[in-house]
Amino acid sequence: MTKDNDIQNYQRRLSLLESHIGFKLETFLQHALKARDSYTQEHSDRVVALAEVMGNRLNLGDHDMDVLSLAAGFHDIGKLGIPDHILLKPDNLSGEEYEGIKKHPIIGASMLRSLGDPLLDEVAVCVLHHHEHWDGTGYPDGLKGEQIPIISRIIAVVDAFDAMTTTRNYRKPLERNTALEMIKSEREKQFCPDAVQTLLEVCRDGMPPYHR
Ligand SMILES: [Fe+2]
Repeated sequence: MTKDNDIQNYQRRLSLLESHIGFKLETFLQHALKARDSYTQEHSDRVVALAEVMGNRLNLGDHDMDVLSLAAGFHDIGKLGIPDHILLKPDNLSGEEYEGIKKHPIIGASMLRSLGDPLLDEVAVCVLHHHEHWDGTGYPDGLKGEQIPIISRIIAVVDAFDAMTTTRNYRKPLERNTALEMIKSEREKQFCPDAVQTLLEVCRDGMPPYHR
């Protein structure tokens, strides 16, 4: 994928939003998230790029690709509602703090649903479930296997891969192969097997620009 594709995809997402809610909401929200937590905003951009490659490879239709693109960009938007002492904490979270951060999919989904648009309602469902696990041990609803929307399952794998392979202020990035081995070991536990297989194939065949 080239930078031109990135720009085209970005413009396509913006025009989708403009046609559905009439103004550049995504730009507005991205600025808000960046002001709170620049890592999460940059992470979201990379998740969009890789999720779109994954969605194409899984032969999602045009409508599902639109939902995937928007859900990937907004998957952590609910972190706007998480207090700074939890969101920006540089080391491990306590049990109570972890319970706090687990609310971000619910907050994000309700932000998207508040706009009253049918497309964004679908995006909201996928955002709500991006931390569900294939074996039912995730949150917020403990959905299992194919109960979890495929778009959420794609975002879950890409989200983990990007988090593992990029620098955080509390740790260095993992090597790509180490991250892939860790993700493989969670196949049919945390992650959808088809989504893991697709990530392995995408990594074998080349990656979108943000991940090179
Ligand atoms: Fe998240």
